[in-house]
Amino acid sequence: MCGIVGYIGERRAQPVLLGCLRKLEYRGYDSCGIAVTADGLQVYKDAVRVEALAKSAPQFGGTVGIGHTRWATHGGPSKINAHPHLDCAGRIAVVHNGVITNFRELRRKLAAEGHIFLSETDTEVIPHLIEKYDTGDLEAAVVAALREIEGSYAIVVMKAGEARLVVARKDSPLVIGIGDRENFIASDVPAFLEHTGRVIYLEDGQTGSITRSGIRINSGGREIAPKEDKVLWSANEAQKGGYDHFMLKEIHEQPRVIRNTLAEFTQAEETASGSDLTREIGVSPILMLACGTSYHAALVGKYVLEDLVNIPATVEFASEFNHRKNIFGKPLGIAITQSGETADTLKAMKRVRSQGGRVIAVTNVVGSTASRIANQTIYTRAGPEISVAATKTFIAQLMILYWLAMSNSKADSRRIASLLLELRQLPNRVQQVLDNEGIIAGHAKFLSRYEHAFFIGRGINYPVALEGALKLKEVSYIHAEGYPAGETKHGPFALLGRETPVIAAVSRDDTYEAMMTSMKEIKARSSPVIALSEDGDGAVEELADFVIPVPHVDCIFSPVVNCVALQLLAYYAARERGCPIDFPRNLAKSVTVE
Ligand code: F6R
Repeated sequence: MCGIVGYIGERRAQPVLLGCLRKLEYRGYDSCGIAVTADGLQVYKDAVRVEALAKSAPQFGGTVGIGHTRWATHGGPSKINAHPHLDCAGRIAVVHNGVITNFRELRRKLAAEGHIFLSETDTEVIPHLIEKYDTGDLEAAVVAALREIEGSYAIVVMKAGEARLVVARKDSPLVIGIGDRENFIASDVPAFLEHTGRVIYLEDGQTGSITRSGIRINSGGREIAPKEDKVLWSANEAQKGGYDHFMLKEIHEQPRVIRNTLAEFTQAEETASGSDLTREIGVSPILMLACGTSYHAALVGKYVLEDLVNIPATVEFASEFNHRKNIFGKPLGIAITQSGETADTLKAMKRVRSQGGRVIAVTNVVGSTASRIANQTIYTRAGPEISVAATKTFIAQLMILYWLAMSNSKADSRRIASLLLELRQLPNRVQQVLDNEGIIAGHAKFLSRYEHAFFIGRGINYPVALEGALKLKEVSYIHAEGYPAGETKHGPFALLGRETPVIAAVSRDDTYEAMMTSMKEIKARSSPVIALSEDGDGAVEELADFVIPVPHVDCIFSPVVNCVALQLLAYYAARERGCPIDFPRNLAKSVTVE
């Protein structure tokens, strides 16, 4: 979704800002713009990609500036609606992420006072309000303006002739990057990671005044000492590293991600205190809240927790949970969100907490809003995930859920010991899947000719079918549906035929025979079948048109090897179809609106 950048230092701001905006392209956007202080305020914006903006923009001087990538909510993508937005005099510029819920009322009032609005956005009221309250102290004017604003915001404000940027946040992330005689601001760390890894995460309700050499943070009207953090990600991790797409690079990183996430978790386990909420898994029922791919991780987690911990686990789409009339009892919440900024998931977490419940957040982003709302946070150590389609963060989420279940398991100790051995072997098993990339790419070429597909699975491989379908549709634009195999007879069979391939995740567990029956029924309706199955399973090979071989693992871990294979299938199908794999149309890396 929208991205914010800011720069103040000794270098020319324009190229620095454009470089930072390029790093935020992965968030998804439809327009972009910059403002710099040079001979007053110079603004250049349009409904184009950053590259096009960089080519067409005049060369501005000036060492202070702000920039933005916009994902349209209030008013379509256009030059006028793009940020930065200005006040009447064109001296105050603002970039904003979030939604101002009372903007209509504010706009009416300001218009009656003589302010002229150009765009359809909610954001434009902010520079006009600041203008109204500006008596010379920009930060004081921002604070006064924010008192009137309802909703969520992360903003950066600049004023012609002032070597200062003013920042503020409420329910939308903003981070300051500390450089040497220069400072950066962004909604997301990768924007400035090549310049600095020293950061200050702004908290809700705080404002800040940033100059080339100083950072002052105010909270509730009082200056506070800023808390500096160090980002563990390296700038290289946010580069393609020789791969054609971030998605492919991130798929290939998964053996390492599994190792890192497990290492992190076992170390944390050694130092865990008695108040560690993860020790309460197995005491109260569990409520998992998530969206999209993270929801599919939660569904796998449900099977694993119910099997190993013998505790009921409910999984809810966060967006649906937020419309529930009642929450029953006091379940232990587990919110799963790679970005830590998904608006629906954050709202659901707040709801659980407001009812006296406690929530563990599983997220990939240190300092994210989810980590601030949660009672406890467990980090997936996946490194920055740039491709919009989640791959390595999903696998890392699974690792956390396996570990939570195994470390609280009521299963017999021999089973757990053998699962632990397998867990440590998973990086090698995933590597075996990656080694079959050529075979998968061949099947993907076949799949890429179709416009519709079904993914089926049973038991713990039902979420695999959902995730396989989601991955394929988002990157290749092939319409795909994930189904529990047993349900396909109850309607979807009407769509079977030569034009509708079916991808079946077959695992050698107690669903095996039923899956074989489903595949026979599907073959009898002429649909081509691509089956994921254990290496050397002759019965599946005989039945399916194509087989994606995956290594043998305990069936509890089959979602890991199967999903990695399906990520590759989606990637190569999208590549065959010439899709913009890392930045699919209309999608955003973190969905910060409801
Ligand atoms: C799909 C994908 C999305 C996200 C969803 C939730 O590849 O990435 O479906 O999983 O938007 O995002 P997070 O995990 O950041 O809450």
